[in-house]
Formats: sequence, structure tokens, C-alpha cells
Amino acid sequence: MGKFDDLFRRIKEQAKAVDDVIFELIPEKDPKDLYDAVRHYPLAGGKRVRPFVVLRAAEAVGGDPEKALYPAAAVELLHNYSLVHDDIMDMDELRRGRPTVHKLWGVNMAILAGDLLFSKVFEAIAKTPVEPSKVVRILDVMARTSNELCEGQAMDIEFETREEVSVGEYLRMISGKTGALFDGSATIGAIVGTENEDYINALSRWGRNVGIAFQIWDDVLDLIADEEKLGKPVGSDIRKGKKTLIVSHFFDNASEEDKAEFLRVFGKYAGDAKGDALIHDEKVKEEVAKAIELLKKYGSIDYAAKYAKNLIREANDALKILPESEARKDLELLAEFLVEREF
Ligand code: IPE
Ligand code: IPE
Ligand code: MG
Ligand code: MG
Ligand code: MG
Repeated sequence: MGKFDDLFRRIKEQAKAVDDVIFELIPEKDPKDLYDAVRHYPLAGGKRVRPFVVLRAAEAVGGDPEKALYPAAAVELLHNYSLVHDDIMDMDELRRGRPTVHKLWGVNMAILAGDLLFSKVFEAIAKTPVEPSKVVRILDVMARTSNELCEGQAMDIEFETREEVSVGEYLRMISGKTGALFDGSATIGAIVGTENEDYINALSRWGRNVGIAFQIWDDVLDLIADEEKLGKPVGSDIRKGKKTLIVSHFFDNASEEDKAEFLRVFGKYAGDAKGDALIHDEKVKEEVAKAIELLKKYGSIDYAAKYAKNLIREANDALKILPESEARKDLELLAEFLVEREF
């Protein structure tokens, strides 16, 4: 039996309960194209780790996870909204093993599908069966999470055309685009479950570090994963010139010659709508493979992987103030899985 088998079983169980809520909120409905587009990613699957964080955080602080089901659905909806818009911005054509929303329904419908997923977030939160003061607080956390996510995504796009991005800037960017939602998920779960501000702060800190590590690992997977398993395009970040910790490490360490070689491919297809279509073009594949070899030559991928694993250790330290429980153990285990996963 694998180390994470029990964890996966529990994620699956809880995902079922969360999905009931999600699909109650986004039923089959007219206008058909709009609702089909809205349901496309939720139906395609996904790991469902953020709602799991909400439910387990509520339980880890001594609360009733049943009361956190609507907020759990809300964070997954916010995540799916961000994926629909992210795929438009990144011009990616594959997500959760299927064609992306804008690929199937066009950019206009994809923008609207994202908007609708976003408004469903607030419909979901309004249904949370806790005191009104807590509902308002959850709304506030969700709004701030979304603000940060947009800020992070804006930095990500801006960095594509920048020559140099410092490690500090990269970390701020991913803290916004990905760290915020893991932080928000853990914080909201804790708010549902407790009045203890120390517990709420501990989960917030855990979520932030886990989210940052999660994105660093996502950047690693973009280079080394198996596309079939990952369900999204591999090498996309190289073609688009995405600034990652891996790339920063490479630029800090590589010879002038290797940097020049790398730059012949890196960002070559930024802003090119055909960039993704070229993914299976033999010449492009070779170019990207060469760039990845260069990153490996300087240990840049290993560097980022270690960085992510250290952040996970730090994150799990923050949970030590919580009483020991199966829920806390699951959060710790989940954090470890997130920087070992292959998808
Ligand atoms: C992908 O998130 C977007 C990032 C923040 C990197 P996930 O890897 O959680 O995607 P799904 O939900 O499992 O498809
Ligand atoms: C974006 O990061 C995370 C979001 C806020 C959606 P990426 O652009 O790297 O996410 P993937 O790799 O497309 O899932
Ligand atoms: Mg993307
Ligand atoms: Mg992106
Ligand atoms: Mg990515």
C-alpha cells in the first residue's frame, strides 16, 4: 500500500459530497452553451485538493466539516473560474485531459463561463450554515483572495515580457496567483470551525506556504511531467517565456553561452496563439527538450524541487499548535503529497 492511499480515499469521499453541492449550483440549464462551458472543468475532474483543505481545516480546529461544504464548493468554483481565464491568457489547449473551454466554445463564451463561476462563489458562500458574522468574514476572505489572485496573474503576464525577474518578485507573484487561494481555503475552513484566532492564523500560514510550494512544483511538472498523466501541455512555460524559480536559478548560474542557447527557445512563442498547436511539432519538441537539458545541467529543477519541499516542512511546523487528530495528519500528508505528485 502506498503512503498516500488512505489520503486519496478520503479526498475522493469528500469530493463526492462537494460535487453534489457544486452541481446543485451549476445545473444543466439554458443558455445551454454557457452552462455546458461552466460545467466543463468541474465535470472533467481535477484533484479537488482545495475543497479538501477547507473541510479538513474545519475539522482540524475542532469544527463540523458538514458546515464547511458550501465554502468548500466555493473555493473549487473560484479555482475553476481562474483556470478558465488562465487558459485564455496562457493560450493553452489542454486542461484535465480535455480541450480547454475557450478552445471548445470560443473566447467570448469562456470569459462568460469564468464570470458565472465567479458569481457562483458568492452564491455558495451565502448558503453557509453558520452565524451571519462568520459568513461576512468568509466573504471578506474570499474577496481578498480573489484580489490577490488577480494581482498575481497580472504579475505573471507582465513578467513574460520582462528580461529579468528576481526571486523575490517571482515569490510575490506565485504567492498571489496560487498561495492566496490555499491560504484562503485553510483560513475559511478554520473560520467555520473555531473562534480561536491562533488556530485560524496557523492554518492561514500553513495554506500560504503550501500554495507557494504547490506552484513551484507545478512549474517543475510543466518541465518533467508526462503529458497524459498531467492532463495539460508540458513545456508550455518554456515556449511562453514564463519566469519561474527554475529559470531564475539557471540565469544566476549558467555560462553566457548556455544562457544564449536557452534564450533561443525560451519565450519564442510568447503571445503566439499557435504556440500550443506547435506542441507536437517535432522541431519545437526538440527545442524545448534542449532547453530542459540546459536547466538540468545546472541543477535548476532540483533546486526548485528542494525549495518547495523545504517550504512544506515549514508549513507543517505551523500546524503543531493544533491538537493531534486525523484531520491534522491529513493536512500534513496532503502537503507532502503536493510536492511529490506527478499530476
Ligand atoms: C492548477 O491547479 C493551477 C495551479 C494553481 C497551478 P491544480 O493542479 O490543483 O489543478 P486541478 O484542479 O487538479 O485540475
Ligand atoms: C496559474 O498558474 C494558476 C492560476 C491562478 C490558475 P499556471 O498558469 O502555471 O497554471 P496551469 O499550469 O496552467 O494549471
Ligand atoms: Mg496556465
Ligand atoms: Mg498562467
Ligand atoms: Mg503551470
